[in-house]
Amino acid sequence: MAVSPKPAVLGEPPRLDSIAALAKRRGFVYPSSEIYGGLNGFWDYGPLGVALRNNLKRAWWYSMVESRDDVVGLDSAIILNPAVWQASGHTQRFTDPMADCQECRRRWRADDLPSPDVCPACGGQLGEVRQFNTMFSTHVGPVADESARAFLRPETAQGIFINFANVLDSSRQKIPFGIAQIGRSFRNEITTGNFIFRVREFEQLEMEYFVRPGDDDRWWQYWIDQRLGWWHAIGIREDSLTVRRHEPSELSHYSKQTADIEFRFPFGVKELEGIADRTDFDLKAHTAASGRDLTYFDEESGQRYTPWVIEPAAGLERAFLAVLCDAYAEEQTGPKPSEIRTVLRFAPRMAPYKAAVFPLVANKPELHQRARSIYETLRPQFATAWDQRGNVGKRYRSQDEIGTPWCITVDYQTLEEGTVTVRDRDTMQQERVHESELADLFLSRLREPSG
Ligand code: GAP
Repeated sequence: MAVSPKPAVLGEPPRLDSIAALAKRRGFVYPSSEIYGGLNGFWDYGPLGVALRNNLKRAWWYSMVESRDDVVGLDSAIILNPAVWQASGHTQRFTDPMADCQECRRRWRADDLPSPDVCPACGGQLGEVRQFNTMFSTHVGPVADESARAFLRPETAQGIFINFANVLDSSRQKIPFGIAQIGRSFRNEITTGNFIFRVREFEQLEMEYFVRPGDDDRWWQYWIDQRLGWWHAIGIREDSLTVRRHEPSELSHYSKQTADIEFRFPFGVKELEGIADRTDFDLKAHTAASGRDLTYFDEESGQRYTPWVIEPAAGLERAFLAVLCDAYAEEQTGPKPSEIRTVLRFAPRMAPYKAAVFPLVANKPELHQRARSIYETLRPQFATAWDQRGNVGKRYRSQDEIGTPWCITVDYQTLEEGTVTVRDRDTMQQERVHESELADLFLSRLREPSG
């Protein structure tokens, strides 16, 4: 599982192995269970990875729930009554086609192969295609028999549908309204890969938006536009994103129409998020299977109906990888071949640290003390790093590599007049700012559209 990147070529699109190596070296992402040889499809997130994940989740939650009147939050269990998956169709239809190589015994996802009958590893003949259900199963309680079988959820959406009536009864929402949830999902993918792109344990950011039957087309388009706007707002470049409508043959069993927001990853243009028109499939299925009425009485029209659902569903790991890939750059900073810096050009609000504070030199107690006091003043308001190792140039490079937008150096002038240098990650320019103005400066930059 050790990552050994080939050297990146300046000016070329970033290589996935360079990004994965940086992610491991700097504490964003580690292979899970690494000391035991890893476990395919599972990853652990280090100190900076957790910070980036939290920043992404916070931005999504703010945009989808806190900034709106018409969406509320939910946190449902990961393991649900197995009847949920029976009713939703997952027990029967949540499958991928699988084929085994008859020579080397490797297993492949059959719809993802360059040639349908030939093993991509050894060229051997592939066997018959079988359907493989990708839900992870477990047992609830001490007896591991069939009656105790349950599943780890493969999507957070069903937890929302089965709580539709609870949320309606306990909040004052009226259609159209949405229920949003962030949480872990699990899929026993036949093949995993491309770093954290396709994994077996991941986190979803999903929202089910309930609308009047017949209003679905307009709300579907509305949510495609909203979601595209969100990806731009977190700093993804416009030309890295495309919207692709599903062909009828690709549609999930519940969908009338789906559009994917896709990102140009180093390994190809792939799905970040799907926006599906799920019709009234799920609420009707749960009404039929549970016997509970999941219809809605519309006071305005005097009609009772089963709402239709528009679902924007994104994956946190894909958002994480897209933000990393879009931000990653290797740049020549001077005439010598060795003058290269690696920089993560995160939008400042996504950066794990907003600022880093350094004393100009480490061995002068008065500089250290003053720098420490500035650091402690900023830290409650902004995620702030401290660094006193090496020289200032090395500290800049180190902060560039983790995407810290602003580096503050405390020097002898600070002791005399209270000003510090603020060095900008992207322009590499320095400006002198009074220490009392730092917080306002960072707040105003974070509020800019690119902030
Ligand atoms: N509730 C609808 C649903 O789950 P999906 O397209 O299967 O739809 C939604 O999943 C999003 O979840 C995807 O767009 C992707 O970002 C993420 N996702 C799905 N499977 C994944 C996997 N194996 N690894 C990482 N992310 C995954």
